[in-house]
Amino acid sequence: MARWAALVVLAAVGTAVAMAANPGVVARITQDGFDYARQQGVIALQKEMEKIKIPDFSGKFKMKPFGKGRYHFHSIVIREFQLPSSQIKLLPNVGLQLSISNANVKISGRWKARKGFIKTSGKFDLNVDGIFISTDLKLGSDDSGRVTVAYSSCSNRIDHVRFHVSGSFLGWLIRIFRRKIESALRNTMTNKICTTVSDAVSSKLQPYVQTLPVTAKIDAVAEIDYSLVAPLVATADSLDGKLKGEFFSRAGRTPPPFAPPALALPNQHDRMVYLGISDYFFNTAGLVYHAAGALRLTLTDEMIPKTSKFRLTTNFLGTLLPQVSRMFPNMKVQLLFAVSAPPRLSVSPAGLALMPALEARAFAVLPNSSLALLFQLGLSTNVSVEVGARSDRLVGKLALGRLSLELQHSNVGRFSVELVQALMNCFVPTLVLPMVNERLQEGFPLPLLAHLQPYNLVFQPHQNFLLLGADVRYG
Ligand SMILES: *[C@@H]1O[C@H](CO)[C@@H](O)[C@H](O)[C@H]1NC(C)=O
Ligand SMILES: *[C@@H]1O[C@H](CO)[C@@H](O)[C@H](O)[C@H]1NC(C)=O
Repeated sequence: MARWAALVVLAAVGTAVAMAANPGVVARITQDGFDYARQQGVIALQKEMEKIKIPDFSGKFKMKPFGKGRYHFHSIVIREFQLPSSQIKLLPNVGLQLSISNANVKISGRWKARKGFIKTSGKFDLNVDGIFISTDLKLGSDDSGRVTVAYSSCSNRIDHVRFHVSGSFLGWLIRIFRRKIESALRNTMTNKICTTVSDAVSSKLQPYVQTLPVTAKIDAVAEIDYSLVAPLVATADSLDGKLKGEFFSRAGRTPPPFAPPALALPNQHDRMVYLGISDYFFNTAGLVYHAAGALRLTLTDEMIPKTSKFRLTTNFLGTLLPQVSRMFPNMKVQLLFAVSAPPRLSVSPAGLALMPALEARAFAVLPNSSLALLFQLGLSTNVSVEVGARSDRLVGKLALGRLSLELQHSNVGRFSVELVQALMNCFVPTLVLPMVNERLQEGFPLPLLAHLQPYNLVFQPHQNFLLLGADVRYG
C-alpha cells in the first residue's frame, strides 16, 4: 500500500512540475535584437563617458640646471568620447558580453608651473586612442519573476596617449613631464571607464530592464501575469524567457483548470524579437472574462438603426411569433447575448478559431420595467480570429461563420427557429460583432520594455501557439 501511495504522490508532484515548467508565452531575443540593444546602449554609454570628471593633479619636478619646481594641471574636460565599434555576444552562462574597440577620447585642460618666482602656464590637448573596453553582464531574475541585469566584470586597455601642448613659448618645459601627465591620465581613465560602465548598468540599464511588465493591468476585470516561470535560457544566437502568460481576475486569483501546452519556437532569426503566445494565454482570458460576467451584452430597440426593418418590440416580434404580441402587447424587447461557457480558442497552422457556445435570451420589458423571458436560443457558429498588433498591444478581430440556432426554452409556445433566423442573421453580425471587435481592437498589452515600438510584424499560427515576430524601435 505504502508503495502505491508513494507512486501517487510522485505522479502528482510530476504533474505539478510539468505544469509549472510550461510557459504561456515565450519571449525570444535574437542576435539582431541584441545588436539593436547594443547600438542604443552604446549611445547611452557614450553620454555617460562624456560626463567623466578628471581631477586636477599636481606634483614636483626637478630639472638641471633650474632645480626644483611645481606643476599643476587643472580644468581638465572631456571634449569628446567616441565609441566607434562595438560587439555584443551572448554568454552561455546567461550573460552578455559587450566589447568596444578603438574608442577614443579628446581631452583638454590647462597647466601651470612654477619655479621660484618664475611662473608659466598654458593649455594642453590630449588624445587617448585605441581604448578597448570589455564588460560582462549577468542576466537573471528576482523572486517576483522580474528580469534582472547586473554588472559582473569589466576590463579596459589604452593603447596610446598623445599629448599636445600649446599656449606658451615655455611649452618645452611641460614636455619634460609629459610622461607624468600621460600616465596620470591613463590611470584616471582606466579607473573611471569601468566605474562608469558599472554605474550605468545599475542606474540606467537595470531600471530600464525592469520596465518589462511582470503584471500588466488591462481593465477593471483582469491583469496578465508576465513573470518568468523558469531561468532564462541562452543558446548560441538567442535568449529565451519563459513567461507565465496568464490572465487572472483582479477580484481574486484561482488556478485555471487546464495547463499550458509545450511550446517549441521554430528556429527563425529574421526579426529582433519573437513571442510565442500559446492558446493557454487566450484561454485564460476567456476564463477570467467569462467568470466576471463580462462576455455578455444587451441589445435594446434604441440601438437598432432607424432604417432597420427589424425592431425590438413585442409588436414587431408578433409579426414572426403572434403569441408574443398577444401575451405582451405594445412593449419593448431586450435581447441579451451571452457566452454560456468559457470560450476556447484553438490555434493550429490553419489559423485561429473559436467555437463559442452562445445564448440569446429575449425579454419583454413590462410596464413596471421588470423583464419577462420570452424565449432562449442557443447559437453556434464558427469564428475565425485575426490577430494583429497596434503600438505595444495585441489586438484582435473576429469573423463569424454561419449562425445555427436552437430553441432552448420558450414561454411563448414552441416555434421553429427559422422564424427568427433572419433577425439573428441581421443583429449578430451588424450589431453584436462590431461591439465585440471594438473591445478587441483596444487590445491587450504585450510584454515589451518601455518606449519600444514593434514594426515589421509577422504572425504565424503553429500547433497550439501563435508566433509573433517583430523588429523594435526605441523612442
Ligand atoms: C411587475 O409586473 C409583473 C406583472 O404585472 C409582476 O408579476 C411583477 O412582480 C412586477 N415586478 C415588480 C418588481 O413590481
Ligand atoms: C466556418 O466554417 C465553414 C465550413 O467549415 C467555412 O467555410 C467558413 O469559412 C468558416 N467561417 C469562419 C468565419 O471561420
